[in-house]
Amino acid sequence: MTMVDNPHGITATRRELEHAAATLGDHLRGRLDRLCRAAGTADPEGRYRDSLTELLGAGADRPLSAPAPPSGVSDDHTPAEFSVTFPAGDRPRVRVLTEPGCGAATLAENGRLGRLALQRTARRWDFPLDPLRRVETLFLPAAPQGTFALWCAMELPATPGTPGFKAYLDPAAHGPEHTADVVEEALARFGCARAWPLLREHVAARYPHDDRFAFFAVDLGPWAAPRVKVYVAHHRFDLDGVRRVAGLFSERCGRQAVEFCRIAAGTDRFDRRPPVSCLSFTGRNPRTPAAYTLHLPVRDHVTDDGHARDRAASLLRRQGLPTGLLDRALGAVSRRRPADGVGLISYLSLVQAPARPPRVTVYLAPEAYRVAPARVRESRPGAILSRESSPRMRHAHPPAS
Ligand code: TRP
Repeated sequence: MTMVDNPHGITATRRELEHAAATLGDHLRGRLDRLCRAAGTADPEGRYRDSLTELLGAGADRPLSAPAPPSGVSDDHTPAEFSVTFPAGDRPRVRVLTEPGCGAATLAENGRLGRLALQRTARRWDFPLDPLRRVETLFLPAAPQGTFALWCAMELPATPGTPGFKAYLDPAAHGPEHTADVVEEALARFGCARAWPLLREHVAARYPHDDRFAFFAVDLGPWAAPRVKVYVAHHRFDLDGVRRVAGLFSERCGRQAVEFCRIAAGTDRFDRRPPVSCLSFTGRNPRTPAAYTLHLPVRDHVTDDGHARDRAASLLRRQGLPTGLLDRALGAVSRRRPADGVGLISYLSLVQAPARPPRVTVYLAPEAYRVAPARVRESRPGAILSRESSPRMRHAHPPAS
């Protein structure tokens, strides 16, 4: 082991110093590179890497040894989350969600930094920001309320080209009591006013107590059919609720969503983090959703990521898809063994759209700051307990001492 003197006169190993020098940007770029390679997505001249750096804002230069920023993107506050989506009959796609303003002291500043990052991204890839402008005044007022201001996502194309981008906004920007009004107005600004009754009365039937408008998202960049999306979080939910909400689209959609939950969660009640419905709308049909997605917080329903991996693999096999990329993706994003923690696989989701096979997506947490310990199974079948009485997380990178 090479010992090196640092400027403070403390002797450290070279590895420790390298770690101290590493930034959040380095950590995430390395994982994006590996994920791209695993998925066979070439990064032309590092342009996806550079774009990721831009979308991380000041977070990119944050030393990994500094405390985590207050971001809600991941459980350990890493302001990024990867995902791999597996369209049947097409190449898988790699995506990354970020919070460019994660270091900001106020939500207003957070929103300003988010917009700045998107402006740079739009210049780099030459696309207009019109969809965001349409709802900017609504979601980014002078003093926004809510839990976040602006999140961004980048979806890499299967063959080298311009990525697709998304902006996520908080319906609670004018306070939690106005989320329904804000979403209704946002839909109207995209000509989707007639979609509102279905959403309010049926998808979010238990609003405001148990159903919550969690996100509003717009597509930016070269999408074939740009969408606007409304996300509803269902607290204290169960399989009957899944059948009811997904069944609004078609009986088949309801059946498939229930089967997805059975496999992904292995339970019929969701009392921890809420499952999240997403309805997407395109200009082609502003009244009827183009797709329905159910996101399941699989990390609440497994003992460890080996367990979550097996659930994801079952879903892929059901679609007739191979599972090799799933395992390569886990290895690309994390160096630990899946069984040594829980939360690397944060969500599993199923997209359903008319006349298309269902599409599975696996969400992967970069765990830049913490790894949540694996749980042990309780003797009661189906129930899961934490190994520790309080769900303490351990450091992903023990601070050099
Ligand atoms: N971490 C947040 C949550 O768990 C936000 C989030 C990240 C999320 N990825 C997601 C929400 C996928 C729904 C689906 O809610």
